[in-house]
Amino acid sequence: MTTAAAVEQRVQTLLETLSLSEKIGQMHQVHAEGAHMVHELHDAVAAGQIGSIINQPDPAAVAALQRIAVEESAHGIPLLVGRDVIHGFQTVMPIPLGQAATWDPELVKAAARVAATQAAAAGINWTFAPMSDVTRDPRWGRIAESFGEDAVLASDLTAAMVQGFQGDDLADPDSIAACTKHFAGYGAVESGRDYATTDVTERELRNYYLLPFHAAVKAGVATLMTSFSDVDGIPATANAFLLSTVLRDEWGFDGLVVSDWDSVRQLAIHGLTDGDKASALAAFNAGVDMEMVGGSFLRYLSELLDDGKVSLAQIDRAVANILLTKFRLGLFEQPYASARPASPESDLRTAHDVALNSAVLLKNAESALPLDATTIQSLAVIGPLADAPHEQMGTWVFDGDRSQVITPLDALRHALPDSVDVHYERALHNSRSLDQTAFDQAQALAHTADTTVVFLGEESILSGEAHSRASIDLPGAQVALVRRLRAASKNLIAVILAGRPLTLTNIVDHVDALLYAWHPGAMGGPAVSDLLLGHAVPSGKLPVSFPRVVGQIPLYYNQKNTGKPPSPEQVVYIDDIAEEAPQTSLGMTAFHLDTDYTPLFEFGFGLSYARFDYCDLTVHTPRLTSSEALRVSVRVRNTGVVDATEVVQLYTRDLVGSLTRPVRELKAYRRVLIGAGESATVTFEVDAQELGFYGRDGTFVVEPGDFHVWVGTSSATTLRASFTLTR
Ligand code: NOJ
Repeated sequence: MTTAAAVEQRVQTLLETLSLSEKIGQMHQVHAEGAHMVHELHDAVAAGQIGSIINQPDPAAVAALQRIAVEESAHGIPLLVGRDVIHGFQTVMPIPLGQAATWDPELVKAAARVAATQAAAAGINWTFAPMSDVTRDPRWGRIAESFGEDAVLASDLTAAMVQGFQGDDLADPDSIAACTKHFAGYGAVESGRDYATTDVTERELRNYYLLPFHAAVKAGVATLMTSFSDVDGIPATANAFLLSTVLRDEWGFDGLVVSDWDSVRQLAIHGLTDGDKASALAAFNAGVDMEMVGGSFLRYLSELLDDGKVSLAQIDRAVANILLTKFRLGLFEQPYASARPASPESDLRTAHDVALNSAVLLKNAESALPLDATTIQSLAVIGPLADAPHEQMGTWVFDGDRSQVITPLDALRHALPDSVDVHYERALHNSRSLDQTAFDQAQALAHTADTTVVFLGEESILSGEAHSRASIDLPGAQVALVRRLRAASKNLIAVILAGRPLTLTNIVDHVDALLYAWHPGAMGGPAVSDLLLGHAVPSGKLPVSFPRVVGQIPLYYNQKNTGKPPSPEQVVYIDDIAEEAPQTSLGMTAFHLDTDYTPLFEFGFGLSYARFDYCDLTVHTPRLTSSEALRVSVRVRNTGVVDATEVVQLYTRDLVGSLTRPVRELKAYRRVLIGAGESATVTFEVDAQELGFYGRDGTFVVEPGDFHVWVGTSSATTLRASFTLTR
C-alpha cells in the first residue's frame, strides 16, 4: 500500500469509530487566547468537541490543551493549533510585499522555513499563510501581506512559501501546515476598502486571481482559507463554484478548507442567508470543512442532517479532510512541540538577507548613494522611522521578539567609524504627527551634516487587515519635513519604511536618493545600513506599480491596450486647455487630464549601484508549436564598478487573441550576479503552454499567432523581438 493509501485507510478506520457529535466537533475551531482557556476549554476538548484552536500563543497552554485532546478524549485525536505566522515568528522577516521585491523564491522559502521551525517549537502546527491574493490596489491595507500585482511572481512565491512552511515532509517536527488564503478574489475589493465587495468575472478569476492559489495546490499546500468578500453576489465562504467546482473538481485539492474568522455567520450579514443555521448550510454545502470560530457548524450541522439538508456522507468527507491533515502532519505520532534548539544567529542572518534583497532603490541622482564613510564627517539621521523598532516589524506581528530588532539608527551608529559624527532627530513623533515644533532642530542638524538620511513612511498599524487608506501619500507632516530638509541638506537621502506603495510624487524631486525598504523586519536596520554604506548593492525590484496619484488606481503594468491607448504626443494636460475651450476630443486617448498616464515607478523597476546594459536579444525559436518552449537569450553587461545582482525580466505580448490580451505579461525572470565590467548571457525557456489563457468558453487555450517578447530591467523595457506560435 502506498503511503497515501495507508493514510487514507487510517482516516477511514478512525472515521468509523467517531460519533456524529465527535465528527462535528472536528469541524469546529475555537479562539483560545488567554491563560484561562486551558481550563475553559478542558471539557469540550476532552469530549471531542473541538478540532482546532487558534491564537493560543503560550506553548505551555498549547501543550496542556493538546495533552487533553490526546490523553483525555475518547479517540485521542490531536488538535490543529493555528496561528497567523505571516512573515516570521519570533524573528520577524520583511512583510510579504517586501519579500516579493526580492524576486527570489529561494529566499522566501528560507524565511518561511525559519518561521516554521520557530513556530513548531511553540506547538503551533498550522499557519494561515501564504496570502496568495494578487491585488492592483495599494489602498488596500492587505497589500502588505501580498506578493504584489503579478500572478506569475505571486504564484512562484506562494509555492516557495508553502514549501518553506511545509518542508520536504509535513510530518517533520519542524514543518507546519500552510494555508493559502483568501480564496478568492479578495484583492479586488472595491476602492481598496477591506472586506468590501468584489465584482470579478469568472474570466478574470481564472486568468488572474486564481493562478497563485492553483500554484499553492500544485505545491502541495495542506489547507486553504475562504475569503470574507462577496464574489459577484455569492460570498466566497458560500461559493460552491470556487470551493467545489474549481478547487476540488478541477484542481483535485484533497486538503482542508477552513472559513475565515466568523465568515460563515457573516453570510447572514451579507444578506445571503436569514440566520446562522442557513449560513452553516450554505458554507458547508459549498465546501467549507472547518469553521473558524463562529460555532454555527457545531450548533446546527446535526439539525441540518436531521432536516435532510446535508448528508452523513458529506460530513464524513469534511471530517476526513481534517483528519487527513492531522495524519499528514504526523500529529498522531508527535502531537507536541518539536524540541529543536533555536539558532537565533542563523535565523537573524536569514532575516538580514531577505531585508537586504527586498529594498528597492528608486532614485539615485548623481550617485548620491552609496555613502562614503571615509569622506563623511557628520551624518544627520532624521525622521519618525529611524529608530522605531515596533514600526519596522510591520503588520501581523503577534509573536515577534522586539529584542531582536535592530533599527537603522542603531545599525548606522554601529557600522560607521568613530570619525563620523551621527546626529539624530526624530523630528516627528510618529508617521502621522502634524507637530512641526522639532523641524527647526532637524533642519539645523541637516545644515551642518555632510549627508542627511531621513526615515519616513508608515507606522506598522497603517497597513494590514482593516487598515486601508484612501490617500496613500506620506501621512502627517512628513512631506513638509522633506521640504525643510531639502532647503538645508547637501545630500538628502530618503529611506521609506511602509506596508504599501505610497504616492511619492510630492517628495521624489526633493531628495537625491530614495530607498524603499518596506517594513523590513528585525534586521531592517543592518540591511538598510549595509545598502546606504555600500557594503551591499541594492537588487530589489518593485512587485507592484507605484502610482503618481491615488486617482490613477487601479494602475498595473499588464493592463489592456484599449482601443485608444495613450502616447506621449497625444496627452493633454489640464493647464494646457484654454479658457472656454469648446468641447474637443483632446487627443482621444485613455489618460487623465491632471496626471501622466504612466506610473511614477513601474512594476519591475529598481536601480543598482551598478549599471546594466542589455543587448543581443535573440529568439532561438522564432517559430514554435504549443508543445515546444520559447528560447530567448540576452546579453547583460555590468558597466558599473561594483559586482551586482540584476533581476533580468522577460515579458511577452500576444498581439491578436480571441480575447484581448494584456500589453505585457511577465513570463520569466532570473536573478543574476554579474561582476563589475563583466557580461552574462541569460537564456530563458518558457513553455509555450505558459503563453495560453482561459479563453471565451472558460477553457485554457494556447492560440497560434504572433508575439512580442521583451527582456530587460523592468516592465518598461524597450528591447524587443518577435516570435510566432504555430499550430
Ligand atoms: C482574519 C483574516 O482575514 C485571516 O487572514 C486570518 O488568518 C484570520 N483572521 C485568523 O486570524
